[in-house]
Amino acid sequence: MQGKKILIGITGSIAAYKIILLVRLLRKQNVEVRIIMTPAAKDFVSPLVLATLSNHAVLCDLANENEWANHVQLGRWADVMLIAPLSCNTLAKMAHGICDNLLMATYLSATCPVIVAPAMDEDMWHHATTKQNLNLLTTHQVSIIPVQHGDLASGLIGEGRMAEPEIITEYLQKILYKNNDLAGKTALITAGPTYEPLDPVRFIGNRSSGKMGLALAEALAIRGASVTLILGPSTVKPQQHNIKTVFVQTAEEMFNATQAIFTKIDIAILAAAVADFTPIKVAKEKIKKGNGDISTIQLKKTKDILAYCGKHKKPKQCLVGFALETNNAIKNAQQKLKSKNADYIVLNTLQDAGAGFEYDTNKVTIFSKEGSAQKLALASKSVIAQKIVDIIAKYYATKK
Ligand code: CTP
Repeated sequence: MQGKKILIGITGSIAAYKIILLVRLLRKQNVEVRIIMTPAAKDFVSPLVLATLSNHAVLCDLANENEWANHVQLGRWADVMLIAPLSCNTLAKMAHGICDNLLMATYLSATCPVIVAPAMDEDMWHHATTKQNLNLLTTHQVSIIPVQHGDLASGLIGEGRMAEPEIITEYLQKILYKNNDLAGKTALITAGPTYEPLDPVRFIGNRSSGKMGLALAEALAIRGASVTLILGPSTVKPQQHNIKTVFVQTAEEMFNATQAIFTKIDIAILAAAVADFTPIKVAKEKIKKGNGDISTIQLKKTKDILAYCGKHKKPKQCLVGFALETNNAIKNAQQKLKSKNADYIVLNTLQDAGAGFEYDTNKVTIFSKEGSAQKLALASKSVIAQKIVDIIAKYYATKK
């Protein structure tokens, strides 16, 4: 990112302390950094520290003694404007164009791409107004760096933590070197678990979080693909504006949603942990405990979505499947590659520390139908997703 110019807007949030580290990371890469703070941000982090690290005075006021901060020039100077942490208050102002401080004046006149990293407590994050405001921002072409799950300033644990500086840097890189190599391509991702109902209140499901599939959808969208995410019951939600989400519950619904669009798409990544079996009979009423045990629940096989796609695949389509194995991992993954006629199989095992369901990290090996095996080190699901997408982009580049 050497020589790039990044304008950072800091708002009033506990997460502001992370910007100190971010500025250091950027300066180490010889990025030019200018900083604007809202008045509230000064309560959380010292302008002196930021001025020293960025090597420029930190700006806060539209007018200061005899000086007027030229907000128009700042927005034109920058290659990208980052607002991080983005508080609920500044989010609302951005959504509605309220111009009551230097940061807002700069945002409203910025001609460069704008990206935000929200930070708030979980309940604020889930508030309907926050969602509406975020949607408005995406319609204004502002990119949003997803919040993370973890410890919050309130002492609670949940969604709303600002992304770590390393992740923010990745997003900045993507914006600065926006690689639109998948523009014009359409992609389908299946993600999350499926729930197979036993009665109106119970189901058979699994522990998949949907995080890997979501990371893939976001990585494809950033590279310009238009993405449909077919998502099983899950708490994760995409925040990228060019991802269409189809919400499903059961394996059958996931199959139908995939079948409906498969012929029209270029890339299919089947990352969902689809239930292999579903109850033959779904009780209309809640199954009562009664006196005895239930000795059997009859199950039938669900349709294999990946196998269906493999069977109907056209030469121009790129099909990626996942394999989750607990034993004979490599052999099983290679077998799945063949039997399901996929171009790639991404193998993850539950044996690696930090990899698998619920984690934000993963460790995978990618097998290609040409016989190669690429082992990736433990990394965030977003980094793994980018590497998988790199492989897909290469696949198309070599097909030209
Ligand atoms: N898959 C699918 N539809 C199913 C079952 C699996 O699309 N009904 C896909 C998964 O999304 C994944 C791949 O098939 O991409 C492999 O899933 P996995 O659970 O590892 O293997 P299975 O095919 O279910 O075989 P097994 O349970 O015997 O390992």
